[in-house]
Amino acid sequence: MALIGVFDSGVGGLSVLDEALRQLPQHDYIYLADSANAPYGEKSSDWIARRSLVLCNYLASKGCNAIVVACNTATAEAIKQIRESISVPIIGVEPGIKPAAMQSQNNIVGVLATEATLKSDKFNALLNTLPVDCQFIKQAGAGLVPLIESGKADNEETLELLAKHLEPIQDAGADTLVLGCTHYPFLRKAIRKLLGESITLIDTSDAVVRQLKRQLENLKVTSSSNEHGAILFLSSKNEESLLLMAQDLMSADLTSHAVEARILGEIR
Ligand code: DGL
Repeated sequence: MALIGVFDSGVGGLSVLDEALRQLPQHDYIYLADSANAPYGEKSSDWIARRSLVLCNYLASKGCNAIVVACNTATAEAIKQIRESISVPIIGVEPGIKPAAMQSQNNIVGVLATEATLKSDKFNALLNTLPVDCQFIKQAGAGLVPLIESGKADNEETLELLAKHLEPIQDAGADTLVLGCTHYPFLRKAIRKLLGESITLIDTSDAVVRQLKRQLENLKVTSSSNEHGAILFLSSKNEESLLLMAQDLMSADLTSHAVEARILGEIR
């Protein structure tokens, strides 16, 4: 059995943890939400890289066999440094622009992500590998993460802001939308309300967890146990609200896991 660290700027990575619990429920998890510092997406590259490295080092020091950087922004800005300084497998998340380009019928793809992700070299390098006949409408989702962090994924204020952000994507006639931030799968209902059922939504959690599974197989820390593992939720802001958000946002049945929530003190 493995101990897996999952890190995000806040509650967004719960969308990845949810998928991990679906595919790999037998392992133990530490979910680390840096909600005191969310949103990362509007911070400088240096700050994001430094903070992400500190938090991943912390997870490694707790004995994690693998770490999922369940944040597109931290992956874009820091995954290279994290991989260079930590020896356990580090799995990152990236906006699914490649599968989106493959699935789009009209070659018009919307990409909703944070400003930092869209500006990053990593994202732009990936974009440059894709066919030029596919048009990508890139939109920064400014203001959405704080609303999701405060439990407002479904309310009117969020719907209004989201409508504004989705307008250029809708006007361009995109038939596919990349959810390029791990917080955004929690807007699925609101997006469907605004864009309807026909648009294809691309979320990479499934591929990320399959990659995690392969890494665990390489490490030979697979488990055939039917028992569900333990989950420790760590928040730099408020552990009780993290646990409540996890129960509310995730589809996994947390009662089948031994769950604990703690505050994350100052770490350097
Ligand atoms: N969940 C994040 C991502 O995937 C970070 C959002 C933020 O803190 O701005 O990009």
